[in-house]
Amino acid sequence: MAGQISQRFIDDLLARTDIVDVVSERVQLKKSGRNHSGLCPFHQENSPSFTVSHDKQFYHCFGCGAHGNALRFLMEYDNLRFPEAVEQLAGRAGMQVEREGGDDPGAAKRQQKREEGVNLLELASRFFRERLALGQGKTARAYLERRGLSQEVIRDFGIGYAEDEWEALKRYLSAQGISEAVQVEYGLLVHREETGRTYDRFRDRVMFPIRDWKGRTIAFGGRVLGDAKPKYLNSPETPVFHKGRELYGLFEARQANRQLSRVLVVEGYMDVVALAQFGIRNACATLGTALTADHLQRLFRLVDEVVFCFDGDNAGRQAARRSLTTALPSMIDGRQVRFLFLPEGEDPDTLVRQEGREAFENRVTCASPLSEFLFEQAAEGRDLKQVEGRERFVSAVLEALKQLPDGVLKSLLLKELSSRSGIETSQFSGWLATHAPPVPRPTAEAGDDGFEAMMAISGEVESAPMAEYGDGPGYGESRAGSGGPRRGLAAARSGTATLSLSWPARIVQLLLHEPGLAETLPERLDWCPEAEPDGRLCREVVKLLRAGRYRSPQVLLAHFHGTPEGERLDQLARREMAIPREVRASELASWVRHLERQSERLTPAQEYQQLLAKSRQPGALSAEEKQRLRELIGMLASGGGSA
Ligand code: UTP
Ligand code: MN
Repeated sequence: MAGQISQRFIDDLLARTDIVDVVSERVQLKKSGRNHSGLCPFHQENSPSFTVSHDKQFYHCFGCGAHGNALRFLMEYDNLRFPEAVEQLAGRAGMQVEREGGDDPGAAKRQQKREEGVNLLELASRFFRERLALGQGKTARAYLERRGLSQEVIRDFGIGYAEDEWEALKRYLSAQGISEAVQVEYGLLVHREETGRTYDRFRDRVMFPIRDWKGRTIAFGGRVLGDAKPKYLNSPETPVFHKGRELYGLFEARQANRQLSRVLVVEGYMDVVALAQFGIRNACATLGTALTADHLQRLFRLVDEVVFCFDGDNAGRQAARRSLTTALPSMIDGRQVRFLFLPEGEDPDTLVRQEGREAFENRVTCASPLSEFLFEQAAEGRDLKQVEGRERFVSAVLEALKQLPDGVLKSLLLKELSSRSGIETSQFSGWLATHAPPVPRPTAEAGDDGFEAMMAISGEVESAPMAEYGDGPGYGESRAGSGGPRRGLAAARSGTATLSLSWPARIVQLLLHEPGLAETLPERLDWCPEAEPDGRLCREVVKLLRAGRYRSPQVLLAHFHGTPEGERLDQLARREMAIPREVRASELASWVRHLERQSERLTPAQEYQQLLAKSRQPGALSAEEKQRLRELIGMLASGGGSA
């Protein structure tokens, strides 16, 4: 096999490809201005935030942060690896892929083997299906019938049977020219070291193919027909199968629903299949492992709501607690996780057969939201009438909230915690900040009038540096959990807290999402000192937007493409806004007012005097100014802010 694909060829290929064509073969796009937009194929949405730029030849989604060029799009959308995407694009363009002379024969070989593997698993899957239909499959057919499975779901899930033989599959695959080594590698054959013998891993079991999201079989789960142990046997980890990432039934759920909006996560193969048979076709199962962050990430790319089903027993509650912990860091606004506890001794399979689809769906509808489960969990075993109990309750909740990205959910939970514990939310932000990992202050410009320090305590001035950006699949949510909510600003008024960004970064982020807002900014840029981190970038962005040539966010990104500023913009674009569109303008306005105030360097006392004077004219104070005045009175009364 040939070596690596040459960079020259890739450049050439991209030059001859129009990303708009490639994307529109898969996503319905509408022309809007110089760009094209549509519903993002990488996450669930109702209004289009996915844009494709013909000029820049890349796509970008402002909802989930997915972005890249035509090759990246194919890799993501068709789940291809890089060389496969190149092949596909080259095929489209009628080009022959050029490879460098045997630079990395390993890569080509790995690729070949991977294809061999997938091919082999498909063959095995077909073999098992055929066996189920034949004479050997009689007992298995009877078993499935006893379990109440219809022909239809047996077909949809590709269920088969591995007969009670040591070498049935091995003989079949070997006759097709597939080496035993490969069969062992993909988990179909077991190799006994001591004897050197190989034999079929799955014998006398009902076979559930585990499929990847394109429907290719990548592994199997096999169930015994009786009570033998182990009840289920799964494929081992192989080059194409990683238990901690795959979910059984997800492909089938996508097949059955053009638009999935919610996924149910259950425990077992049989649960998924039984629910499907009763018309509940949005369930999937982990493969005998606990839920991982990878699983969740996969699910949230597809849907906004995930409902976990657990047994009502202790093990179930334990598993639920673990899932809660796993889910917390992924809970950016707009996503929802709920917990459904089943009666003890039941699983979805038995329950749906007993009570039918509607009753089961009612249970799903009534599943506890994450917040409820979290509070319930934190209160468990604690006497909330006692101070100590309440304190433990509060710290348990706060401990969990530290894992939660900043956003509406977090502030709502803080409010709820406040009303349940009788402690003011302002005290929590202090707690969250002091218990967060220590972080250096971003700027050294705090004056000694006490203003900055005080405001930092009250949570108004940004006190956290930019959060570290995970480069996961583009959500980039803040996990810093520091820098409390900025009370007094628009975000707080709308009941939300904002992410822990330096303020110029936050303004850039607002502008990236709403370039039109640049027009609402004051003429002069005094409010944005260049010395501030991201201050220069912020000024640049404002100037460009004002010049009127960069009306669309991704064109703005393209302008900075390949520079450090470009990288920074890209990070900012990928972060969740965490606030609804309607309040973005007012948040920006509040920021600018706030900063102007700062640049005027008023001490709290001066500001107080100013507002007080203004308040003497009836009706002159805005609601925000009134609020600010109250804050200042509080601050001055507590002895701070003397200047
Ligand atoms: P359960 O024991 O709850 O099985 O295991 P089930 O799905 O209800 O199956 P039936 O109804 O008895 O046929 C739940 C899941 O745990 C994994 C499997 O993924 C199973 O679906 N498991 C269980 C194993 O991997 N190995 C086992 O031996 C048992
Ligand atoms: Mn079961």
